[in-house]
Amino acid sequence: MSVEEVIEKRYSVRGYQDRPVEDEKLEKILKAAQLAPTGVNSQAFKVYVIDTKKNREAILKSYNKEWIVQAPYVLAVVSKANDAWTRPWDIKNLNEIDATIVMDHMILQATELGLGTCYIAAFHEKAMAELLDLSDEEHPVLLTPLGYPDAQPRDAPRKELSELVEYI
Ligand SMILES: Cc1cc2nc3c(=O)[nH]c(=O)nc-3n(C[C@H](O)[C@H](O)[C@H](O)COP(=O)(O)O)c2cc1C
Repeated sequence: MSVEEVIEKRYSVRGYQDRPVEDEKLEKILKAAQLAPTGVNSQAFKVYVIDTKKNREAILKSYNKEWIVQAPYVLAVVSKANDAWTRPWDIKNLNEIDATIVMDHMILQATELGLGTCYIAAFHEKAMAELLDLSDEEHPVLLTPLGYPDAQPRDAPRKELSELVEYI
């Protein structure tokens, strides 16, 4: 599948089959996280692979939608902001940009493997930090369920390119 096809195929999957994800597929997805670029190559992130069967109630405390725990796994990208690059002249820290790229790499790789995902930012950070037993220096940036899809895309129309792009 070409990158173009992967990008066209991906959608937010909000329903999953009760079917395991093969270890080889999970490994490929985690490899995509490892290869993701980060500012000054800081790699100030960690990916947590959360088994939804073992952690069902704790996951729902953070994101209370049944479909997230239908998938066999939830992947969480966690950042350590102090280890990420900070732009010195305006003190902009890149950790959340890095974490988002890591998640995007995993999501596109998962799509190519026929798996479903959904970026999730609307979770309760404290509950997730408790589940992952994070230190004060780490915080979860994005989650996604990972599993075989059992839901069609919602209508999500995009703006015209002319609205989104400007040539100057
Ligand atoms: C950074 C980010 C955070 C998101 N957070 C959530 C979320 O918390 N819950 C949810 O159901 N969808 C979430 N989404 C999914 C968006 O609603 C979805 O990507 C958008 O509506 C476009 O639809 P599509 O992904 O099917 O193309 C998020 C997407 C992004 C990029």
